[in-house]
Amino acid sequence: MAVLVTGGAGYIGSVTVELLQQEGEDVVILDNLDRGHRESVDPSLPFYEGGIGDRKLVARIAREHRIESCVHFAALAYVGESVGEPLRYFDNNTAQGIALLESLVVAGVRRVVFSSTAATYGEPEQSPIPETHRQLPTNPYGWSKYFMERVLQSCDHAHGLKFAALRYFNACGATARCGEHHEPETHLIPIVLFAATGKWPHVSIFGTDYPTPDGTAIRDYIHVADLASAHLLALKHLRGGGDSDCFNLGTGHGYSVKKVIETAERVVGRPIPTQAAGRRAGDPSRLVATSDKARRILGWNPQRSDLATIIQSAWDWHQKHPDGYANG
Ligand SMILES: NC(=O)c1ccc[n+]([C@@H]2O[C@H](COP(=O)([O-])OP(=O)(O)OC[C@H]3O[C@@H](n4cnc5c(N)ncnc54)[C@H](O)[C@@H]3O)[C@@H](O)[C@H]2O)c1
Repeated sequence: MAVLVTGGAGYIGSVTVELLQQEGEDVVILDNLDRGHRESVDPSLPFYEGGIGDRKLVARIAREHRIESCVHFAALAYVGESVGEPLRYFDNNTAQGIALLESLVVAGVRRVVFSSTAATYGEPEQSPIPETHRQLPTNPYGWSKYFMERVLQSCDHAHGLKFAALRYFNACGATARCGEHHEPETHLIPIVLFAATGKWPHVSIFGTDYPTPDGTAIRDYIHVADLASAHLLALKHLRGGGDSDCFNLGTGHGYSVKKVIETAERVVGRPIPTQAAGRRAGDPSRLVATSDKARRILGWNPQRSDLATIIQSAWDWHQKHPDGYANG
């Protein structure tokens, strides 16, 4: 019996594959490599290059590997891109996501751990954000994930498909093997490190007049290895007969953009050039999670999510892979 990991060649997927493998799980990866990197996963693992919407392929994988659970990461995940190309996002993340669920249900798979996101909440009405906060996304990416949560709930009702929807806040950091390589890069910590090495001329600080202590936006940063451990715990929860549920994955502590840059300057031991820029439309001033539910129900205990540890791990990986996976 094996676990199907969709999007397993992506950033968070590859780190989760690494952990599942360490834990002795049989893992099969399905990724179309649209945004992922074949080199990010152990070449000895079964790997299928293909789309989650390919029903024949998923049926074959489920049959040949006796898939018992699915950890579903595969998605397009750029907020800005989703605003310009909403149909592409609804097709890839929602329509193909539904096709995947259909293939899994037909194949008898009844456990799914799903990558959801803080973007399903939209503009927060309170901080930190609990799972019971109303969900009103402000962009197509957030809606594409919100719809998948609703579809999963309906599949539980109709087919007994048990799911854990994990709403990540800001994934960051690296393991010794796997790091963050997005094209284009839009995440703060890699950009800060690119500016530290001169690969980028500076870090743009989008918004310096937010109602926060230093005027810059506050986010909840969570180490990718801590995210990976939550997926393993969610799988165990479902295998143990646990109910379907949604869980925030964050630390409950927020750091401002300026605080991230200051911490990175200490880690890399040099000043990092910055440039103030205007706010980006739809960027809330503060996004911080309450994660008590994941701690209580899943037994999750993030160990590596202090900011300096996160940045040090990302810095170590960037130094070994200055051009990401391509020439790493
Ligand atoms: N990075 C974050 O901070 C963050 C925060 C919240 C939620 N998420 C979610 O976590 C998941 C993983 O994010 P990531 O940062 O690792 O992204 P990523 O782009 O590195 O990984 C996504 C992977 O999915 C693959 N993929 C996309 N569409 C596919 C399809 N139709 N068929 C097969 N493979 C497909 C891509 O090739 C890529 O390897 C995504 O679902 C994303 O929405 C990420």
